[in-house]
Amino acid sequence: MNTTKRKLIIAVDGHSSCGKSTVAKDLAKKINYTYIDSGAMYRVITLFAMRHNLIDGDKLDENKLAHLINDINITFSYNDELKRHETFMNGELVEDEIRSLDVSNNVSLIATIKFVREKMVTLQRKLSEAGAVIMDGRDIGTVVFPNADLKIFMTADVEVRAIRRYKELKDKGDDISLDAIRENVKKRDFIDENRDESPLRKADDAIVLNNSHMTKEEQLEWIVARMAEVE
Ligand code: CDP
Repeated sequence: MNTTKRKLIIAVDGHSSCGKSTVAKDLAKKINYTYIDSGAMYRVITLFAMRHNLIDGDKLDENKLAHLINDINITFSYNDELKRHETFMNGELVEDEIRSLDVSNNVSLIATIKFVREKMVTLQRKLSEAGAVIMDGRDIGTVVFPNADLKIFMTADVEVRAIRRYKELKDKGDDISLDAIRENVKKRDFIDENRDESPLRKADDAIVLNNSHMTKEEQLEWIVARMAEVE
């Protein structure tokens, strides 16, 4: 049983498709914390930009997005029936669409934009005001919550990550190839690590979790043990 009195802020950062959100959701459920998926926010902005034809290849119409970004309202709720967290864009359920390979192929471009990041960070901090939060992303331990109580930096081998994401999308019925997924994972790692704005990097005080050869249960136990050390 969890006997924590302190409401911790737990930051989970790391590479694409390494299972950050899976473990963060499992942990939130286990200890009754709020889970916040910061990547979903960047995915919503991306979907919005795609629908408004603001993306052409590697080019984004930044001016138009800057004008329109305040029209985008991002909300989350937990669907009890389906037992899943769901993301809404201006009230529309977009949970599945934001996970598509099309959105994944454009999201890292959107995530390089300074005004997009500033707006998302403000929202992330606002949603966490009550504490007892676990948030996953790329810059949570470095930028959003530099004083987080526990920082975890997750990673896994590229091939392992590609196969996991492939299975996830296949299970949803998407018609995609493993090669296309692998390319997307590698490309996003590259863009995320090399952008000027809040690049993906391990915070100095983050603990590394390489889960290439771990089961979901093992990684959950690992995090619970790390929590016990800071409680
Ligand atoms: O689930 P997966 O790890 O594949 O990605 P995600 O967490 O949904 O994030 C999608 C993309 O959003 C990442 O590739 C980053 O480019 C961007 N992102 C970010 O820049 N900062 C965050 N805090 C979260 C996501």
